[in-house]
Amino acid sequence: MKTKTVYVCSECGASFPKWMGKCTTCNSWNTIEEEVVRQPSASSKISVVSAPSSGSSPKKISEIDTTEEARSLTGMSELDRVLGGGLVKGSLVLVGGDPGIGKSTLLLQICEQLGKNQNILYVSGEESQRQIKLRADRLGITTENLRIYSETNMDYIVDCIFREKPDILIIDSVQTMFNPQIQSTPGNTAQIKDVTTVLMKIAKENSISVFVVGHVTKEGALAGPKILEHMVDCVLYFEGERHQSFRILRAVKNRFGSTNEIGVFEMKGNGLEEVPNPSMAMLSGRPENVPGSCIICTMEGTRPVLAEVQALVSPTSFGNPRRMASGPDISRTIMLMAVLEKRGGLKMSAFDAYVNIVGGLRIVEPAADLGLVLAVASSYSGLPIDSHMVAIGEVGLTGELRACSFLEARIAECEKLGFKRCIVPATDLKKLKSFKDIEIVPCSNITEVISKFCK
Ligand code: TYD
Ligand code: MG
Repeated sequence: MKTKTVYVCSECGASFPKWMGKCTTCNSWNTIEEEVVRQPSASSKISVVSAPSSGSSPKKISEIDTTEEARSLTGMSELDRVLGGGLVKGSLVLVGGDPGIGKSTLLLQICEQLGKNQNILYVSGEESQRQIKLRADRLGITTENLRIYSETNMDYIVDCIFREKPDILIIDSVQTMFNPQIQSTPGNTAQIKDVTTVLMKIAKENSISVFVVGHVTKEGALAGPKILEHMVDCVLYFEGERHQSFRILRAVKNRFGSTNEIGVFEMKGNGLEEVPNPSMAMLSGRPENVPGSCIICTMEGTRPVLAEVQALVSPTSFGNPRRMASGPDISRTIMLMAVLEKRGGLKMSAFDAYVNIVGGLRIVEPAADLGLVLAVASSYSGLPIDSHMVAIGEVGLTGELRACSFLEARIAECEKLGFKRCIVPATDLKKLKSFKDIEIVPCSNITEVISKFCK
């Protein structure tokens, strides 16, 4: 068989004729790996699958069929929502996350509902058939339509797929599978790319819905992230602290729906349980009237979610004050500390600051700024913030409060959960309708907020 060697960057996918320490396209170090490109050989089963599909030709745009894709419900409405309303037939979904977060558990659990009228083939390269059976027993999986196959060689797996003709295929995980025609070890970019290409072909040509599990590297990215993400239809990330029970499923890419939805689950003794009201779950057991705690409201897709931000400020014993953030973005946190120092008059440079979002939620939007600032100011002064109040607003570099989107939906959620007061940016006030059970407090900058609520 004829082979050719190229060197490919595992971050951006650029290829080079020679190995280099640094990728000249994306400037990352040590990401270039050797890849052997194989020429299709007649004996390889995979090359049969990869043959170009015949009979396809351009169509007039008016003739293209746009009826909704067939979707099947997974029995977990949190997952269905993240997928955009159920699993699309013939789609390839990549489920990423840290080891031990619950990817295999989630995929095994949905087999019960999906197996009612579809055949499922679960291929595991990580666990034995016995281990999976024991787990399935614990999760209460009784369906007759689930086949378990422990294998890592893609040649055998492709054979098995053609023999079994499943409607749904689960590959756990892409890093353990390998194509024997490629020299590199399983988990290498070349292998991952090849395995995913083969699975994508199978999914499209045979209308099989495929779930592929992908482990995340230490840096928090899927191994070969860019390469995998552009190949698949849907990328879901499973997030959360391994030692906390909440798990958040987030769509990073979705060809069949919106990408900013999240699904919230809780890991229990008998598997993952859906959390239909995340705000209530995130706030349960919060301390009342203690310094350093404030409630924020962040939009997760179409849903507003309330969460508690906690801050601890203590005198620093080193030259440089420490900043730690779990949940909020660290550079955003550092910026807000500087705003507090300069505009809020707090001597933050003499204090370490730790901030945390309770429940393991990762905050991606700036509307949580005000709550973070208030929690820090409250810990700094030792004065508690009203525990029936929610703070919403982005903080700008001059300390001003900036408008944020979906304000009415956020306030409505706060009202629904029984909060009595809500601080909003004054610039947003004109657009707001009136609320019955919640007092709206417009503020224009952080000095005003701190003097009103943290004194
Ligand atoms: P798993 O699905 O194996 O993780 P991944 O496939 O993402 O690596 O998750 C396993 C973790 O979940 C493990 O640490 C044990 C825990 N767990 C429960 O708490 N309850 C359960 O019912 C199951 C099946 C697992
Ligand atoms: Mg697993």
